[in-house]
Amino acid sequence: MTLEKRQVVSVDQVVKDFRPGFGLRRIRVLHGVTFQVHEGEIFGFVGPNGAGKTTTLKILMGLIRATEGKASILGRDVAESEFRHQIGFLPENPYFYPYLTAREILHFYARLCAVPSKHRSDRVDELLEVVNLSHAADARLQTYSKGMLQRVGVAQALIHDPEIVFLDEPMSGLDPIGRKEIRDVILSLRSLGKTVFMNTHILSDVEMICDRVAIIVKGAIRHQGRIEEFLPDGTLSTEVVLAQLPAETATQLEEDHGAEMRGLGDRIELTVPEKNVRDVLRAALDAGAQVVSVTPHRNSLEDVFLTAVRDEEGEA
Ligand SMILES: Nc1ncnc2c1ncn2[C@@H]1O[C@H](COP(=O)(O)OP(=O)(O)OP(=O)(O)O)[C@@H](O)[C@H]1O
Ligand SMILES: [Mg+2]
Repeated sequence: MTLEKRQVVSVDQVVKDFRPGFGLRRIRVLHGVTFQVHEGEIFGFVGPNGAGKTTTLKILMGLIRATEGKASILGRDVAESEFRHQIGFLPENPYFYPYLTAREILHFYARLCAVPSKHRSDRVDELLEVVNLSHAADARLQTYSKGMLQRVGVAQALIHDPEIVFLDEPMSGLDPIGRKEIRDVILSLRSLGKTVFMNTHILSDVEMICDRVAIIVKGAIRHQGRIEEFLPDGTLSTEVVLAQLPAETATQLEEDHGAEMRGLGDRIELTVPEKNVRDVLRAALDAGAQVVSVTPHRNSLEDVFLTAVRDEEGEA
């Protein structure tokens, strides 16, 4: 028996039209978007710039209304407000008053979110620990790096211990260390049983931490599923780069071993089906060629993403 996971976010055929200015024609930026987020997972909402990620998130946060369709969180329509204490939100470009310290700003949000005064200090300390900012808690935010500010933003989203956290581009503009720190915070949320919804276009981060993803391109969902479905096990093909390959051997490799060939100056790049790699290498070496590189190629989320974007452009 498989246990059905509880759906905590549901977006059903959501359409959004904007009117860019008075008297101008409406433009449709979401074309019937449908996806679900399950309890306890890290969900990646992935798409290129302008795809409609932030617009979808704003609809979920109740900041703008859908033109058509339904969106609900924890079974409640997003227009309602009772469930809001169970969700946290990090906007795309959060702004914090630079003369305050991290501790002060988190105290402010704790008050705003009605964290009882006797628990506030403990909660702020705990969160500073979670986002790894205890050492800088009493420094003004103007002295913070972008990565540190982003972690203040994440801490702000968690101040009232919400069930579901919505993060709009939490890793954007961060260096690899900053991204790892945010990834670690997100993973620690999952281990606490929280659900994380994250907008992003950084695919390597998605591959590393997300349980499920939806790919949105030009306002339409192109793929949705568990991350493993996008990352099939095993190698699909191998790229072999050779130098000094005699022309007749090259032709033979194409004909006998299904290798696809591309000239790279005095080198030749072959895309070889996995099962034929040994034979191709042996034949090339026997013919006196030099092996420059051998790179196994796996299907990745990036391939799926690029194909989805190209298909959409092809149709446009
Ligand atoms: N208030 C608005 N009025 C008119 N058009 C808008 C408005 N808000 C967003 N758009 C348009 O909707 C489309 C989707 O924008 P959105 O901000 O949702 O994209 P995104 O996927 O978050 O992109 P990014 O990765 O750049 O953050 C864009 O073409 C944008 O220009
Ligand atoms: Mg956005």
